[in-house]
Amino acid sequence: MSTAWTSRYALRTKGITSSQIRELLKVTQKPGMISFGGGLPAPDVFPVARFEEACHKVLSEQAPSALQYGETEGYRPLRELIASNMTRYGIKAEAENVMITSGSQQALDLIGKLFINRGDRVLLEAPTYLGALQAFNVYGAEYESVPIDDDGLRTELLEKPLRSGPKFMYVLPNFQNPAGTTLSEGRRHELVLLADRYGIPIVEDDPYGQLRYEGEHLPPLIVLDRENLRRDHGYSIGNVIYLSTFSKTLAPGLRLGWIVAPPDVIGKLTQLKQGADLHTSTFTQFVAYEVARDGFLDKHVKLIRKIYGERRDVMLQALQEFFPPTVTWTHPKGGLFLWVTLPAGIDMQALFKSAIKQNVAFVPGDSFYANDGPGNDSMEGSRHMRLNFSNAAPEQIREGIRRLAAAVKSQLTGTTVRLKLPLEV
Ligand SMILES: Cc1ncc(COP(=O)(O)O)c(C=O)c1O
Repeated sequence: MSTAWTSRYALRTKGITSSQIRELLKVTQKPGMISFGGGLPAPDVFPVARFEEACHKVLSEQAPSALQYGETEGYRPLRELIASNMTRYGIKAEAENVMITSGSQQALDLIGKLFINRGDRVLLEAPTYLGALQAFNVYGAEYESVPIDDDGLRTELLEKPLRSGPKFMYVLPNFQNPAGTTLSEGRRHELVLLADRYGIPIVEDDPYGQLRYEGEHLPPLIVLDRENLRRDHGYSIGNVIYLSTFSKTLAPGLRLGWIVAPPDVIGKLTQLKQGADLHTSTFTQFVAYEVARDGFLDKHVKLIRKIYGERRDVMLQALQEFFPPTVTWTHPKGGLFLWVTLPAGIDMQALFKSAIKQNVAFVPGDSFYANDGPGNDSMEGSRHMRLNFSNAAPEQIREGIRRLAAAVKSQLTGTTVRLKLPLEV
């Protein structure tokens, strides 16, 4: 007799579904499809030759330790390199404050495991990163969403939700996923002060901070928390846990991210990580260290900024050229995404289907909202789409936006807009 598996699944799996984006990525494999769907880096910027050299060096010089089990906190030279690289963003952490994770996604899972009891509330931006919702949902999180605008999280709306005592807040200050917005400097100051006043910790997720294409870098929340409120204590205490990753600067296939937190939090996360995977791949950490060292990462990030900055400009230009005037979009200063707002009442599912028929894909906005009340009615989500501009080549971006504009126009007018023959892309 075969087991009825579903009746044996744990209660915590109830209501857990696959990410709409993962499902969508399957459709985007179709030949001829131009995808603005995933958050994929451009494969043409992967530093393949440097990886080849690094793998060879690691295997010829360090195989006994690179292929062995390693420390749960991560390979020490890599943690030191990360700590040293972060100083240019003002983060003066020691290796003891840094734990390597299997991507930032694992950091989110471990944070959920560490902090969330069933029914605990997490304060989020609306919209927010879908993967964080997926990570926290498993632990039974409930949510309170606060809307964002062009300057990021609307801090003037925070007092009431903070007073009601959420477990922590999850914030994306730089080139937010999905909206591409950046939290202004004034709001950053306000946010750390409010969080401190109400004793609510902040999880600052920053995968895109290094990918700025214009303007000046703004201080991370972890730096403002320390400088404004805890000058004498270094990183031994603090109200902010900071996350980042090599996924967007080297390659997401590495699955390498990191957490910066006070040592006692790192200690507890380390115990939880032992149960999850013992440690992140030793070999991958050795290779990433060899790739990133001696200033290579800095040079490489400059190249990525140039390429993605150009792609962003091509997308903005094409939107301006092809989209009807009733549609608006954000102007991200960095990162991988922009956020399009369509007139209220648009049938997003029909638009998505029609775009797929035209061989162009995007992610409908409702995926990025938690299921809670204000700041997040599903009507609000249903008039947005997230567009990624890092993955497709410039000529594909232009053609993709042209196709998408035709799909949008026909949804808005209820007619079919006939495209001339698609350009070869
Ligand atoms: C905001 C945010 N956090 C975390 C992640 C996960 O990144 P990683 O590849 O490091 O797991 C992503 C990936 O796109 C992201 O956009």
